[in-house]
Amino acid sequence: MLAKVFSCAVVGLDGVLIEVEVDVSNGGQPGMILVGLPDAAVQESRERVRAAIRNCGGKFPHGRVTVNLAPADLKKAGPTYDLPIGIGILLAGRQLWADVTDALIVGELSLDGIVRHTPGIISMVSLAAEKGLARAFVPYDDAREASLVKGIEVFPVRTLADLVNHLTGETPIAPMTDEHRHVEACYDGNGADFSEIRGQEHVKRGLEVAAAGAHNLIMSGPPGSGKTLLARALPSILPPMSIDEALEVTRIYSVRGLLPPDTPLIRERPFRSPHHTTSHAGLVGGGTWPRPGEISLAHRGVLFLDELPEFNSVTLEVLRQPLEDRRVSIARASGTVSFPANVTLVAAMNPCPCGYFGDPVRECRCAHSAVLRYQKRISGPLLDRIDIHLEVPRIAYEQLADRRPGEESALVRGRVEAAREVQANRFEDGETLTNADMGPREVQKYARLDNQGEQLMRTAVRQLALSARGYHRVLKLSRTIADLTGCEKIETSHVAEALQYRPRVADA
Ligand SMILES: Nc1ncnc2c1ncn2[C@@H]1O[C@H](COP(=O)(O)OP(=O)(O)OP(=O)(O)O)[C@@H](O)[C@H]1O
Ligand SMILES: [Mg+2]
Repeated sequence: MLAKVFSCAVVGLDGVLIEVEVDVSNGGQPGMILVGLPDAAVQESRERVRAAIRNCGGKFPHGRVTVNLAPADLKKAGPTYDLPIGIGILLAGRQLWADVTDALIVGELSLDGIVRHTPGIISMVSLAAEKGLARAFVPYDDAREASLVKGIEVFPVRTLADLVNHLTGETPIAPMTDEHRHVEACYDGNGADFSEIRGQEHVKRGLEVAAAGAHNLIMSGPPGSGKTLLARALPSILPPMSIDEALEVTRIYSVRGLLPPDTPLIRERPFRSPHHTTSHAGLVGGGTWPRPGEISLAHRGVLFLDELPEFNSVTLEVLRQPLEDRRVSIARASGTVSFPANVTLVAAMNPCPCGYFGDPVRECRCAHSAVLRYQKRISGPLLDRIDIHLEVPRIAYEQLADRRPGEESALVRGRVEAAREVQANRFEDGETLTNADMGPREVQKYARLDNQGEQLMRTAVRQLALSARGYHRVLKLSRTIADLTGCEKIETSHVAEALQYRPRVADA
């Protein structure tokens, strides 16, 4: 007899419906064959399913079992198909009578029949809902995550036997409620608060501007001046994610298998700080089965590259395209997979190998050529994509010992949220979400200067030798600074502040 069960594969971040067809025939050589481009993990499912059926009190059929995973031209990876294959075998072997034509079934089985956590559940259940399936049977551990998807009933399955008993109507499993869908995204309060950071007011202000307009930012300064501390405080002033953003981010973590078991929905903006030894596949994604890299894990949040010059220059080069496109595309023989990568890049570096170049107190021990070589490690095109360049000097003792609390992150976040609101209204019906995303046409439309502003710009372009890109950068920043102040018009003071964030080339 032939049975059909719906399951799902994940390609990139998207689900693809897979039909698991199982045929059990009494003639022919006994055994089980699996066809439809299965990889090694799928092949091994034969052994897991056989043991799981036996250990759940069922009988593995004596005859010949043929399992086909359709469509046949898509490679199938991972152990996701264990549970649907198991159910398919029981149906085809007439040990179970049930209608599963409206159901998605996914999950890895252990030898004793327990259904294990499976990555990518949210992508799979979303697809099932899109295709109009009414029910989804998913591993118990992943059910809360699955229940975030609207329009489909989700059943948490602990064991193969539980699912069988549910399908026969013997012991029905209670469907998940959708309570998690209503949780608000929020900032959970890890990382430093702005009020704990002494001095460095101009850096905090730079971070505020960066957060308000989603501008990329780089900090340079001597060791111990607080660069890492400041960067880690950035999430505390970012606006909370919308529920749609939270779902986007959760999908990425789910596919990477990085969703913590007790966190069905990622509510806090990601902050990723990959180490400088990270390979470029680790950074932008890759692999035979393309998986999202750090830049996608930081989607809608912050990608922090600490000690920037220590990163391999080839690795940094591969960041250029995704930073521009806000998306990573990975080409494979079977087609191109793309992952979202809309991040705020924050980088930190010392000005020279010893770290004290330009420091008023401690003398720099580096040769002039070494300083230049160090700074040259970061390519111009990458720096060009960074709008805000900040110097983080050592702080004076008086400031460090000052006990008065600084402004709290929550207050700064309030201003940032207001500025984002202005931008949301401005770019109501386009791809652009923030000022940093503006293209030349939008800059021309929304970042107009008055006469005085024009004059200041003219002088700056001439005296500071600003490039066309540099000019646009100052305009975008001026727009953000005006938005932070609640001004529709960009004033001269806004342009003047924006000019302070321009790159300082080492003039050693
Ligand atoms: N402005 C500050 N206010 C309060 N504490 C600070 C400040 N700056 C530095 N510190 C303290 O010094 C420690 C080191 O700072 P941090 O690691 O941020 O320095 P850094 O600039 O990243 O140095 P490096 O260049 O060596 O990486 C912090 O963990 C914090 O305890
Ligand atoms: Mg540091």
